[in-house]
Amino acid sequence: MTGSYLLELKNIHKSFDSHRVLNDVSLQIREGEFLTLLGPSGCGKTTTLRIIGGFEQPDSGEVYLNGARVTHLPPYRRNVHTVFQHYALFPHYNVFENVAFSMRLKTLPPQTIEKEVKDALSLVALSGFEKRKVSQLSGGQQQRIALARSLVGKPSLLLLDEPLGALDLKLRESMQLELKKIQQKLKMTFVYVTHDQQEALTMSDRIVVFNHGRIEQCGPAREIYEKPASSFVADFLGNANILAATLLEILPGSRAEILLEGEIKLKVPCAEALPVAAGQRLCVAIRPEKIQLHSGPSQDASKVSLPCVLNDVVYLGSSARVLLSPFSGCAKTIQATVVKYGRSGADSAGGLNGTAPGGTIWAQLDGDDILLLPPESDS
Ligand SMILES: Nc1ncnc2c1ncn2[C@@H]1O[C@H](COP(=O)(O)OP(=O)(O)OP(=O)(O)O)[C@@H](O)[C@H]1O
Ligand SMILES: [Mg+2]
Repeated sequence: MTGSYLLELKNIHKSFDSHRVLNDVSLQIREGEFLTLLGPSGCGKTTTLRIIGGFEQPDSGEVYLNGARVTHLPPYRRNVHTVFQHYALFPHYNVFENVAFSMRLKTLPPQTIEKEVKDALSLVALSGFEKRKVSQLSGGQQQRIALARSLVGKPSLLLLDEPLGALDLKLRESMQLELKKIQQKLKMTFVYVTHDQQEALTMSDRIVVFNHGRIEQCGPAREIYEKPASSFVADFLGNANILAATLLEILPGSRAEILLEGEIKLKVPCAEALPVAAGQRLCVAIRPEKIQLHSGPSQDASKVSLPCVLNDVVYLGSSARVLLSPFSGCAKTIQATVVKYGRSGADSAGGLNGTAPGGTIWAQLDGDDILLLPPESDS
């Protein structure tokens, strides 16, 4: 089984000074895949990458590359290249020498080096920059040089640790698309670390969501977004309103009755196996963009209607964020995103479509958009 993956991590554990940083991390990566490790600061992304690259050893568990065990091999004995966040170009060398650096160490023939450097620079759209000093390049250009340098040896696996972290938003977005194009063109395998969920959604074939050194969920971007396995994943990848609930009863026809925030009874679809038994606590996650706001309850029996108190409307340019309480006196605020609002929509007094702050507005949802998840303390 091990041989069918380019990279495999099996039950990796790692502690620093008795502080557990990775807890039973297992992963498989296929050739040509763009896999992103996503998670908050300190969750163990860089440590995982360093273990793959051979810069760190796990306390237990194994690393396989192309089916061969490499757990204790040094970095230079693995066909893996790492691009670190601080990309460490040599400031006194020109672009050519920076890109050629690893080939010079291998004493390859000058013609081979020249051709490889030329090809790599063309891939990152910096042909003609060979003689420039690194100090004469912008941040984005330096990042592309670091990438070109990592491409020349044609490693079977490229590890990238927040490589776009230092760039401004516009440049980062265009580099995301460029990187993805390069990866597809060269059919390389990328393991990419970021804590930026938008970046992960834009680029990845699969996303691995980390939390406190554990893998919370692993799957294609859409699957993770639409079917998060925990409230942590729901809130980390995209935004989610997380509400406390109790599962009252499992009803016939794949439906369940829940009690939301100890106050509102709702009947919702529950096609898949429920995370808890009747009578137990659970979490409900609702994406802000799935909520539609109306002045009255829906006549459509397939919809769930919740009478809410309108608290505030925050103008965001292309959309508005509407802050609601699911019932009067509820301490929990939920957010809805409204895209279509005009002169008759959001108004400067914080109201929406004629409803003043403090008034009642109906949140309508498809039952499928109410996600039933394990209670927060278990996630
Ligand atoms: N060499 C080390 N010695 C001691 N503790 C370390 C060492 N390297 C990492 N850690 C700790 O391990 C934990 C995970 O660190 P890691 O760098 O893997 O996180 P990360 O997910 O990459 O975070 P960030 O998004 O901030 O880069 C952190 O608590 C960090 O302080
Ligand atoms: Mg890191």
